[in-house]
Amino acid sequence: MRCMALIYDHIRHAGNAGDVIKHLILGEAVDHQLSAGLIYAESHAGYPGYILKPGGEWTSGIGRLWARRGDFIGFSYIQALERLNPSDLLAYPGSTCLAMMVAEEAGFSLRVEAWDIDPLAGPAWSSLDAFPHDLRFHTGDGFSGVEELLEEEAGLLLIDPPLIERTDVERSARLLGLAAKSGWTVLFWYMADIERPRLPASVETYSIEFAKAGLECDRWKEAAVAVSGSRELCERIRERTSEFMELVENW
Ligand SMILES: C[S@@+](CC[C@H](N)C(=O)[O-])C[C@H]1O[C@@H](n2cnc3c(N)ncnc32)[C@H](O)[C@@H]1O
Repeated sequence: MRCMALIYDHIRHAGNAGDVIKHLILGEAVDHQLSAGLIYAESHAGYPGYILKPGGEWTSGIGRLWARRGDFIGFSYIQALERLNPSDLLAYPGSTCLAMMVAEEAGFSLRVEAWDIDPLAGPAWSSLDAFPHDLRFHTGDGFSGVEELLEEEAGLLLIDPPLIERTDVERSARLLGLAAKSGWTVLFWYMADIERPRLPASVETYSIEFAKAGLECDRWKEAAVAVSGSRELCERIRERTSEFMELVENW
């Protein structure tokens, strides 16, 4: 019997508590790594952006922070969201667009290599030709796509799998290891309630329990981002995640 492919639809999840942690750290990492011609790669990019509909998962994610966004304005992630939403929170950038927005704000353009297996994502990306970045979107498997890219000059990689295939965690950990060996800076996002990935000893992991941050995310309790990068980057992410937690815990 053939197994049905598992389908993941990020539209339902955009802006949820997991995205908040992921995108907060991503914004800081992009801002830290910026340099002329930086390669930014994503193995699981999703769509350029999402419209936030009433009652969506975002309401217990970014929706909870939005009223107090002034407290978080030092974070590149919140700054990008504000530029996209000058008044009400209506639109949410996908991670790749967030990376491009952070770079643009600092006056840089990126070379972007993004993969997603969803055949509907490609047309959404091709409507973005006005972006001032060297952007290539590839429809297909991001694990193998990024692996081929690793031979090229190193850059910043986000691995953000849907975690619905049993092999997603293992393949992500493997890709992180390969990319790190090739000199790439890597962020790997996962729900920390799932099995803990086996990662190289040099990798630092930043995890946030949703309840402690005043957020909720369906049945999940904790998200983590594993970071393989320079000591300076890790220090920045450590400081910024602590700052974020202090802000939300002192509400
Ligand atoms: C968590 S979502 C990505 C969200 C996006 N990175 C963001 O933060 O805005 C995971 C994505 O992985 C895609 N996907 C699933 N399996 C894949 C594979 N083997 N290669 C590339 N993309 C895949 C899904 O279509 C989905 O869009």
